[in-house]
Amino acid sequence: MCYLLISNCNEVTLLTLSSLEMASNSSRDYTIRLMKEEEIEETYELVDKEGWNLTLDKFTHLYHSCPKAFYVAATDQGEIVGTISFFPTFPKEYVLGNIVIKSTYRHKGMGKKLVDVMMEQHSPCVVSCTAVPGADQFYINVGFSFTEPQQGHDIFHIEINREELDKQLLNNNETGLSVRPYDKKDLKALVDYDTEAKGYRSDAYVSMMLDCFPTYVAVHNEDRLAGYVAAFVKREEIVLDGLCADSDSIACHLFRKVLDEFPTRNNVKLQVPTSRLFLSQLGVICSSSKYNRYSLGQPTPSPLVKIYNVSDCDYSY
Ligand SMILES: CC(C)(COP(=O)(O)OP(=O)(O)OC[C@H]1O[C@@H](n2cnc3c(N)ncnc32)[C@H](O)[C@@H]1OP(=O)(O)O)[C@@H](O)C(=O)NCCC(=O)NCCS
Repeated sequence: MCYLLISNCNEVTLLTLSSLEMASNSSRDYTIRLMKEEEIEETYELVDKEGWNLTLDKFTHLYHSCPKAFYVAATDQGEIVGTISFFPTFPKEYVLGNIVIKSTYRHKGMGKKLVDVMMEQHSPCVVSCTAVPGADQFYINVGFSFTEPQQGHDIFHIEINREELDKQLLNNNETGLSVRPYDKKDLKALVDYDTEAKGYRSDAYVSMMLDCFPTYVAVHNEDRLAGYVAAFVKREEIVLDGLCADSDSIACHLFRKVLDEFPTRNNVKLQVPTSRLFLSQLGVICSSSKYNRYSLGQPTPSPLVKIYNVSDCDYSY
């Protein structure tokens, strides 16, 4: 087995793998290295085929905030055939995400190789990830363990009946609470709130959310932030991309505000921690699935008290 690992102050990483290591239907060599700016779109297209909570805008923004988090496997001809991201959370901890191998290159060891390169590059104490259904065995086979206690999450696709929902929310009065579009003056409070909710600071996520998606904040008595929500529409569905709140009732008000933002859409995708399943009862459940959490080392648990819907399994959880 022949590795060539070139590391230049962590700026560029090259790992060239002989085609001999590849299974017989691939005759090309590939290189694992940082993603380049001009490769954003091609890499996004590879990831987007999986139907995750990404938009090109979001992917681009996250890349610009944290370019060293994005790696690709590229053939000698420059075709992107694999990708992975490795986002920092707590000290020496990372979240592995967006790992995709082009379908014709799967089951030849490339996924494992991408994980190995990330480990060599970052020397993390802890890495965690949430596995989409079907990917569990991959993580176990590359050395991850089922995280205990779990902080995986449940995916729900629900259909909203707005009238029913409004009836349910009638008794949900919150004195002194206003829900309003995010204003630039809320930025520091929003970053602080997000940090408290997740347990670690993620400026990259907050700035992406504000720049890419409609974001609403819940404010108590005009001065104290009590929650936020961001959402976008993808594949005919409202995708809730982060909802943190001080209470169930505030979470419901934020959720209702999102529906006002997209008045013609009644289908919603939720990614809720297991302790927050009630949000899925605000509509009729059309389908659901479970994303388990896997890790190398013992991850620092997120406080979870304020998290009602995870922003994106790959970057903030
Ligand atoms: C999951 C994925 C990244 C794996 O990449 P890959 O290059 O095919 O995986 P590898 O060939 O490196 O496999 C490494 C090990 O995992 C096992 N494995 C890989 N995919 C598997 C699967 N779907 N089911 C069971 N085992 C699997 C392999 O058998 C191998 O085991 P071994 O080392 O004991 O022989 C790839 O299938 C993919 O892109 N899937 C679609 C996107 C996706 O689901 N990503 C995961 C998001 S959480």
